[in-house]
Amino acid sequence: MEKSNRVSLGQGKGGLPKIDLHTEWSDAEIYLHGAHVTKFQRPGEPPLLFLSDESLFESGKPIRGGIPIIFPWFGPREGKAMHGFARTREWKFLSHEEDNGAVTLRFAFPEAPDDFPKFTAEYFVTVGQTLALELKITNQANENFVLENCLHTYFTVGDISAVSVAGLKGAEYLDKVDNFARQKETNDVIKFSGETDRVYLATESATEIRDEQLRRVISIAKEGSRSTVVWNPWIAKAKTMADFGDDEYRRMVCVESGNVAENKLTLAPGETSSLKVRLRARPL
Ligand code: BG6
Repeated sequence: MEKSNRVSLGQGKGGLPKIDLHTEWSDAEIYLHGAHVTKFQRPGEPPLLFLSDESLFESGKPIRGGIPIIFPWFGPREGKAMHGFARTREWKFLSHEEDNGAVTLRFAFPEAPDDFPKFTAEYFVTVGQTLALELKITNQANENFVLENCLHTYFTVGDISAVSVAGLKGAEYLDKVDNFARQKETNDVIKFSGETDRVYLATESATEIRDEQLRRVISIAKEGSRSTVVWNPWIAKAKTMADFGDDEYRRMVCVESGNVAENKLTLAPGETSSLKVRLRARPL
């Protein structure tokens, strides 16, 4: 480990265990609760990730902002927690490793619940000039394992009305604010003027968030992901969310990388899936 790198495990909000990480290029925070990255910031730049001032930091409850790991299902499931159980369980911190100044933290999901097919999950968070994430899931059962996964990333933006998302033109999407109507994206870029909640299907290439107010472009490159979810709750929905400020919809946008809805994955016994995302920002 180089001198400039520091990894320390301490107490975060709500007394939850949290890792602070400092590299030559960036600072990051990761809660073991959900293996949840809550911060990535380069000196002199605004935080890359949005974190709500109203977020709960409580065992069994999701953190609002950062990068929730959504697994093994996306969205509601009857009688079960919205967006699966990975984001509300404490993960194990296994190790950290340094490579040319970047630090990779490795986490493991504790164990599959008794009433669920056997799987193992590992999560790698690499902090350096960029923020890179990898979620690996292995089917440990003797039957196929059908799953959804998603890195539900909340980005900080200056003002949502001066934001556009590029890279999804031509893709089909399910419009959750229109009863999952199937649509085709015809615009070069997506702009925001109301509640937006869309699952873009079969979208494997990178997307970019252009932020006129913060004068930066965030690029989201991915591998092993066929779905891209774009979400902003806007005014009315924000008001219904207890762990989200009424005006915070202006300062965030979610562009999520995963495999959901008809892009869900089927793993054969012993098979491993890998979902990789790399985030970086550049000046506009
Ligand atoms: C998005 C979904 O990914 O997550 C939205 O598409 C949902 O429908 C949002 O509202 C937030 O979900 P939650 O459970 O974190 O409030």
